[in-house]
Amino acid sequence: MDREAYLDGLLAEDEVLRGVRERIEARGMRPISVAPGYGRLLTVLVRGCRAREVLEIGALGGYSGICLARGLPEQGGRLTSLELEADYARFAEENLRAAGLGDRVEYRVGPALDGMEALEREGRRFDFFFVDADKENYPAYLDLALRLARPGALIAADNALLQDRVLDPDDTSDAAGAMRRFDLAFSRHPRLTSVILPAYDGLGLAVVDG
Ligand code: SAH
Ligand code: DHB
Ligand code: MG
Repeated sequence: MDREAYLDGLLAEDEVLRGVRERIEARGMRPISVAPGYGRLLTVLVRGCRAREVLEIGALGGYSGICLARGLPEQGGRLTSLELEADYARFAEENLRAAGLGDRVEYRVGPALDGMEALEREGRRFDFFFVDADKENYPAYLDLALRLARPGALIAADNALLQDRVLDPDDTSDAAGAMRRFDLAFSRHPRLTSVILPAYDGLGLAVVDG
């Protein structure tokens, strides 16, 4: 058993999340939801910073969405989740409904950049962001998150290490280049206090100062 399996084994068995993971596999979707401990961390962070408005970028089957929504207060909390694929968004919404969280989530279908610009025009602002969509747009997602952030908002970002491709100087792909730019901007941004942990696939955490 590895250390992640040991620690995930300590978490009480979660039928709801296990079901989502199984249905994702059964539908032939890529198994790229966050891991159990990572999902729990999202719940801890959302609840710990008392977030009421949470924005997720990249829904897939709603696994991380359930974890984020579980951190919200029962009254007056909302998860907004942006997903490119209409059928993924529908499936994720079904999964949140089955988890008893349907009344706390709003899915928006389409490119997340457009979705974030629309949210900005609508005057929506957020206390917590989870960035987990297409890697080429991570630098733009960071810029937009900063425009949509309330002071003190938290930003969590998955895949900062891109399966270690950011470490490989021979990897000149768009995704690796964008993630290196994201990592640098995230780490040194004047409005952020941030860290990228070498956990999972590189886990970025930042608080938006003022
Ligand atoms: N956060 C999910 C996993 C997300 S996988 C979880 O842990 O449960 C990445 C998702 O981003 C996929 O569902 C993919 O369809 C979506 N995606 C890719 N490009 C996108 C874009 N431009 N806008 C919005 N979503 C996008
Ligand atoms: C991929 C995307 C992810 O968000 C992830 O967590 C793992 C893999 C991918 O596109 O390969
Ligand atoms: Mg990811």
